[in-house]
Amino acid sequence: MTLAWQAAALRRALPRCAVPLRRSVANGQFSAAAPVPGAARLPAAAAMATVATAGLACLAVAAPKRPGGKGPAGMDARQDELKKQVGYKSIDDYVRSGMVIGLGTGSTAYFAVERVGQKLASGELKDIVAIPTSQRTKEQAEKLGIPLATLDTHPHLDVAIDGADSVDPSLNLVKGGGGAHFREKIVEAAAKTFVVIVDDSKLCDGLGPHFPIPVEVVPFCHEHTARVIESLPALKGCKPMLRLGSAANNKRDGDKPAVTDNGNYILDLHFTAPIKDPRAAAQQLKNTIGVVEHGFFCNMASVVLIAGKDGISEKKRRQGWFSRL
Ligand code: 5RP
Repeated sequence: MTLAWQAAALRRALPRCAVPLRRSVANGQFSAAAPVPGAARLPAAAAMATVATAGLACLAVAAPKRPGGKGPAGMDARQDELKKQVGYKSIDDYVRSGMVIGLGTGSTAYFAVERVGQKLASGELKDIVAIPTSQRTKEQAEKLGIPLATLDTHPHLDVAIDGADSVDPSLNLVKGGGGAHFREKIVEAAAKTFVVIVDDSKLCDGLGPHFPIPVEVVPFCHEHTARVIESLPALKGCKPMLRLGSAANNKRDGDKPAVTDNGNYILDLHFTAPIKDPRAAAQQLKNTIGVVEHGFFCNMASVVLIAGKDGISEKKRRQGWFSRL
């Protein structure tokens, strides 16, 4: 595990309202060699436990929520800024005039789409044709005047850019938190380069417990399909839950089954332990009748841009230590 992945794991383990202290831990400033000053002169583990207890209490009473937001306002603002930085950088670094590009879906991809619109408007980019991966992204792109097409007329993309819900150290991804993973996968598989854009909260040591795996299924006999999935050997221990409310997130924000852009349902597979072999899990899901597409994106990312407090880092597939994992 690299320092970035370790730091991300620590940050997740600590409560959100203890941001300054959590940053110190994630930065490696809490250690036997470099204890924190004054009253906080505790061994790292004890300090973390204290912070966790205090944090839980203050989360309950003090954390303001953004309207429709996912967490405390401070955390969201920081995360939104990281998403914007990495979204903009992906376009600045990977998109050139004349390209056919895939536009992802979600709150990070939103900023990449925004940047394409800005650069077309300013004339910095010309002759772009974009393939959107969802109805939402299509609507955003149309508002920005981005020329759109489909895979039917443009089957070969120069680059596709999209967010992810989880990224493991081998750059396997989980996608589909926004319910668009079928269209994302068909578009991103057609791209020469697939650029993944995330903030560092998306890094994990193993897929599964970090974020439930979305699986798009046909509505017909979906309860039966859920039971078949639960019994797949590579998915041992998973608990499938039918997504209710909006398909665009996995929070229960309604009572009716969420319906995707393709008219299907979504099962979110919950895990308590990391999935040992994501590729086998992906294969077994793919072979299951009733499954349209699953949210494992194994061996697809060409590069992952990761935004964190120290800036944006870039991890390429099959380079350096990644090739050994
Ligand atoms: C949508 C996706 C998104 O890329 C993924 O959910 C990440 O979204 P966000 O950038 O909002 O965290 O797969 O289906």
